[in-house]
Amino acid sequence: MAHPNLQVERVAGAIGAEIRGIDLARAQADAAIAAIRGLLLEHGVIFFRDQTLNDTTLKAFASRFGTFFRHPYFVPEGDPDVIVIRRAPGDKKIVGEGWHSDTPATPAPPMASLLYGEEIPLYGGDTLFANQYLAYETLSPGMQRMLENMRIVYSDTRVAGATVGRNAQSATKLREDAGFAHSQGVHPVVRTHPETGRKALYVVRPLMLHFDGMTKAESDGLADYLYEHSHRPELTCRFRWENGSLAFWDNRCVQHAALNDTGPFHRIMRRVQLNGDVPA
Ligand code: SIN
Repeated sequence: MAHPNLQVERVAGAIGAEIRGIDLARAQADAAIAAIRGLLLEHGVIFFRDQTLNDTTLKAFASRFGTFFRHPYFVPEGDPDVIVIRRAPGDKKIVGEGWHSDTPATPAPPMASLLYGEEIPLYGGDTLFANQYLAYETLSPGMQRMLENMRIVYSDTRVAGATVGRNAQSATKLREDAGFAHSQGVHPVVRTHPETGRKALYVVRPLMLHFDGMTKAESDGLADYLYEHSHRPELTCRFRWENGSLAFWDNRCVQHAALNDTGPFHRIMRRVQLNGDVPA
């Protein structure tokens, strides 16, 4: 739905658009929210600049698109709906390194994420995004047919929990307490977007254990091929953050990756996620 005040500029051929002409702290009008939802569905990820948001206004805006997803393994700093993603000089590990769609090791992964840039480094710390409709559509018909009924078993055992020991290497703290229980999800390799009806590749390699019904050894070669294919450069865009930028992406058809190249600088982001359907 077109909106008279919004200026939309695509940032790459495959994915992403920058939206200007709106103050998100005040964006509550139904017509503006409907237009933003339409732009998210069209572009996969949308970017806003020069915003001034706190947790209350970030949540007020995000809540117009869905209900809040409670992340299973981040330690909240305050409001449990808002995850603070910190990167400190010397961090060996960062959140979101490696291409992924958010939190697939849950039965119903978040449909979308909103990430707000609070303190952005002088250089580095960009985020990359890749269009998973195109990742699916650029596979051969034979490969598409083969993947049609395959599923993937996901677990967060490699990324969270005391045995992983990430907290010693990262300023963002994940649950390592004795009460933490790992979660699992089993999802189709090709998912149909519930709003657009389009098919998208859904292979989240960092949390994947194996294809359902296959061994890890049998799975790895094909999984590696699909993972590399899913973020071929022509399927991607790259976002250079500024203080006050917001990225809003659709996890049902987009993968993303954070770059760990902020050198001597801090990077502080605030993220909320919205509940999604069981992938189908
Ligand atoms: C994430 O994977 O949600 C974090 C992305 C980023 O910090 O750029």
